[in-house]
Amino acid sequence: MASPLTYALLRSVAAIALICYFVLQARKPDGWFGRAFARAMNLGHGSLTDWGLKHVDIESGFKVLDIGCGGGATVHKIASITKDGRVYGIDIAEGSIAVSCQLNSQLIKEGRVVIQRASVSQLPFADDSFDLATAIETQYYWPDLPGDMREILRVLKPGGKLVVIAEMYKGGKYDWLKWPVMWFMRSSHLGVSDHRELFSAAGYGNIEIVEEKSKGWICAMATKPGLDPGAAKS
Ligand SMILES: C[S@@+](CC[C@H](N)C(=O)[O-])C[C@H]1O[C@@H](n2cnc3c(N)ncnc32)[C@H](O)[C@@H]1O
Repeated sequence: MASPLTYALLRSVAAIALICYFVLQARKPDGWFGRAFARAMNLGHGSLTDWGLKHVDIESGFKVLDIGCGGGATVHKIASITKDGRVYGIDIAEGSIAVSCQLNSQLIKEGRVVIQRASVSQLPFADDSFDLATAIETQYYWPDLPGDMREILRVLKPGGKLVVIAEMYKGGKYDWLKWPVMWFMRSSHLGVSDHRELFSAAGYGNIEIVEEKSKGWICAMATKPGLDPGAAKS
């Protein structure tokens, strides 16, 4: 018969395995648990997303791409703002796509929303397609961050904007607690100046970084040069 110490050890291993599984679902929500996780993220990321989207103009008729759309709440939100626009959501995870399609089923029928399984590294869209691209709580997991930023730039129209919204960043609130999680997930963990350099190196202009320090939120935005000759200089 196993000793109490063996039972305690087994319980600890099981608890750690469960926590690891839970944390890894954020990277790619799949299966039953992944779908539940995508629904939970729809609720959990609501305030952060609302705060971040306040910093961008979403005009009527805009064509918008939400990258790493998760459970589709942001797609739904943006579609309700840009009434005659069209919103595309892409994600690599089957669980995220299933929940996004379910949440946006009516808008998909109306032809105002399109949800597709795809990676940010290979966007299934023509050059110069979008007025706005959004990426909420997702860029940490992208496989080739500099290359993926250039891929987004490719599909943005000249003058189009990319907005990256996140609550995990170097120097943010509770970073001492968050960075080990990011390290465990092999995720990128950037600070304010790293965000600026990332946008700049990829060829974006008009770079703006806003922080909500009391919450530990960051919103990094920039445009694709082309419309305004001064745009690439910031
Ligand atoms: C933490 S969730 C955030 C989801 C959603 N944006 C939100 O705010 O609730 C991260 C999402 O990014 C997706 N993702 C990760 N790597 C990706 C990639 N290479 N291309 C597209 N999506 C990706 C994951 O599948 C997951 O749905």
